Amino acid sequence: MRLRPGNFLQKIMNTNKTHTDFCIIGCGRLGISLAVFLSKQGFIPKAFSSRSPESVERAIGFAGKGKGYKIPSEAAKTSPLVFITTPDTLIEPICEKIATEGGFTHDSVVYHLSGALSSSILSSAKKNGASTGSIHPLQAFAPYEEGQESPFKGINMSIEGDERAVELGKEIVNALKANSFTIPTHAKTVYHASAVVASNYLVTLEHFALELLKQAGLSEENAYEVLEPLIMGTLNNIRQRGSINALTGPVARGDDVIVSRHLTDIDEKLPQFSDLYRLLGRYTLDLAAQRGEIGPDAQQKLAALFIF
Ligand SMILES: NC(=O)c1ccc[n+]([C@@H]2O[C@H](COP(=O)([O-])OP(=O)(O)OC[C@H]3O[C@@H](n4cnc5c(N)ncnc54)[C@H](OP(=O)(O)O)[C@@H]3O)[C@@H](O)[C@H]2O)c1
Repeated sequence: MRLRPGNFLQKIMNTNKTHTDFCIIGCGRLGISLAVFLSKQGFIPKAFSSRSPESVERAIGFAGKGKGYKIPSEAAKTSPLVFITTPDTLIEPICEKIATEGGFTHDSVVYHLSGALSSSILSSAKKNGASTGSIHPLQAFAPYEEGQESPFKGINMSIEGDERAVELGKEIVNALKANSFTIPTHAKTVYHASAVVASNYLVTLEHFALELLKQAGLSEENAYEVLEPLIMGTLNNIRQRGSINALTGPVARGDDVIVSRHLTDIDEKLPQFSDLYRLLGRYTLDLAAQRGEIGPDAQQKLAALFIF
């Protein structure tokens, strides 16, 4: 669906101006992708500002429209929709600078796209009457390449912020053909921790599993191939039955003898993983106990094994 002036975006924003106009501050991976794929949906890229003029030129070239500005507040003045897509640590100071220089008005809706930070870091824009929010794509973005498929299509994007920013955010995400869900502003940090555990710590966990299999004599490549169906099957079980019911294995069966053998071998051959195995075992025992299938005796024996 293409968005045109006079549609629901104007209604949401409560004015008669052309509210599909937007500007990008920070022309990197996210900034350029956002500009390209929003403009394909009828949003109008009016202004770009970045650290280097080359990045601004590249963004304008890819988006096919818009003007470059050296001063971010001048770029922000051109458009009601402002996306600050700089590295995380620069979002707050850049927003403050734009606010001090009068770059925001009551019409402005200002977003950043960080997963780790909430819209509260845009409070300087809010003090100037702007609406503020954050929209976070749960996806890793590579630099934009001419003609590439939209990296937003079908992904999940969280939205938080004030009411107007959240409502407009849903329309933006919808236009990008992604799925939106909302979270409270105060929950942004735990939301981000969840993404880190789900993605980064899964990598750590699988690295641990691969090291164990390499100890059994397999090459790194073979080790992954051997484990892959088990990993995928487990993910599928979580999807179908939920995390607690997907649990199988010796801890879920209350088999302290097997777990004790694992620990003897790991302590001897891969002691760098001893604490990790015990910590994960402890948490896994909690999950197994919630299922109510292992008796108190087995629980006690397993808990004793998992003490550091
Ligand atoms: N990439 C991802 O996978 C991903 C995923 C989800 C969320 N995000 C979030 O998206 C935001 C942008 O990340 P990114 O990956 O797009 O970063 P990036 O590729 O490093 O781009 C950041 C851009 O900010 C520009 N910049 C640096 N200092 C600036 C300044 N003082 N004033 C104006 N512009 C400045 C840089 O400019 P020059 O090019 O001009 O030097 C760079 O192009 C971050 O909040 C990040 O957390 C990223």
